[in-house]
Amino acid sequence: MLLPNQSVSPGGRLVVGGCDTVELATRFGTPLYVLDEEMIRASCRSYRQAFEGKVPSYEIAYASKALMIKALCKVMEQEQMALDVASEGELFTALEAGFPPERIKLHGNFKKAALLRMALDNGIGRVVVDSLPELDLLSSIATDMGKTADILIRITPGVKADTHERIRTGQEDSKFGLGLIGGIALTATRKALELPSIDLHGFHCHIGSQMLHTDGFRRAASVVMEFIAHVAAETGYVAEQFDIGGGLGIRYTHDDVPPTVDKLADEICTALGAAAEEHNIPLPELILEPGRSIVGEAGVTLYTIGVVKEIPGIRTYVSVDGGLSDNPRPCLYDAEYEALIANRADQRPDTVVRVAGAHCETDTLIPELALAAPRPGDILAVQATGAYNYAMASNYNRFPRPAVVLVNDGRADIVVEREPLADLVRLDVVPQRLQ
Ligand SMILES: Cc1ncc(COP(=O)(O)O)c(C=O)c1O
Repeated sequence: MLLPNQSVSPGGRLVVGGCDTVELATRFGTPLYVLDEEMIRASCRSYRQAFEGKVPSYEIAYASKALMIKALCKVMEQEQMALDVASEGELFTALEAGFPPERIKLHGNFKKAALLRMALDNGIGRVVVDSLPELDLLSSIATDMGKTADILIRITPGVKADTHERIRTGQEDSKFGLGLIGGIALTATRKALELPSIDLHGFHCHIGSQMLHTDGFRRAASVVMEFIAHVAAETGYVAEQFDIGGGLGIRYTHDDVPPTVDKLADEICTALGAAAEEHNIPLPELILEPGRSIVGEAGVTLYTIGVVKEIPGIRTYVSVDGGLSDNPRPCLYDAEYEALIANRADQRPDTVVRVAGAHCETDTLIPELALAAPRPGDILAVQATGAYNYAMASNYNRFPRPAVVLVNDGRADIVVEREPLADLVRLDVVPQRLQ
């Protein structure tokens, strides 16, 4: 399966963003994450174009948990995106990249006081409050600092997203957000309106990730709009913003058929319009926070095949020089991928194999896949690895994290250096008594 903006050269090599992937592997080494800049920019634009004119006002915030690196912050800034961050490290990266703080939204179900202070200190646009204690803490910190915290309240809409249970977040039984049942979300709203140094701008929800249908978005839109109407009736407060989160799925395999961004926009905006009319409330500004669908299909990971082991009558294992440490998703939640031999991308995939990583774990990357007769030294290109791969990479087995290369129109630039071995021991301390 080739992804958009990929092609096969006359010599039979996979080409991404105008770059020969085999040359990239030789030049930068493997494993290597390759990111197609034009595809990322096109995804940002497709979101903006899809919502333009369908609602009076909207904002698209890239959810940086999918992939957070400084160069990407620059691309997001140039594409007029806002940014969602969910930790001190993501916020730090955004600020280091010079991303406009007023366009940053801070998420998280447990934000420490230091993180809230950092957010207020740097004038970030929105803190998305996730619990009642956080609301109190934020109010007291903001008061101490002589600042006002601009917030959204995260609602748990009680919508069960049609996706893997570990990436579902909108159901009532969730660590995220304030539930509608028992009136907790309403209590939080009243509190936010009363507390000093808090300026409430509206509500947020995020029901899950890798959603291949739009029903969940539609239901979340209706439920939150009903809540907004209820709040208006109870308190007189009319929400000015509604952030419906991210979650649109992507094509990992040929079986995945995600809705287009246009369809998503149609469904969400129709649901919002209908709810606004039904409840007789104004349409709030709509915010979206896509992550995976901005960067996922723009990424390819290049590995070198090291060992091809045939177990007669059972299967053939193809081991590559990465695995669990650069892509934990197959082990975490059985995520599926497709791949091809980058140096023989024109050949028929006729050999069924299992692709395994190189870690001391059964780190299967792809349980069953047809490849064009894989041999040691071949370059394996695993498709659609732009989201939640580098972002979730670890140093398990003390594997250094791979480099990330940004390709565009035949040009390739390093945006994250390969982690040097020396960095693996940089923070190790051997106490004097062990010397
Ligand atoms: C609050 C929030 N917003 C946005 C996202 C991005 O989701 P996705 O990458 O599926 O678009 C997530 C991811 O889990 C999230 O937790």
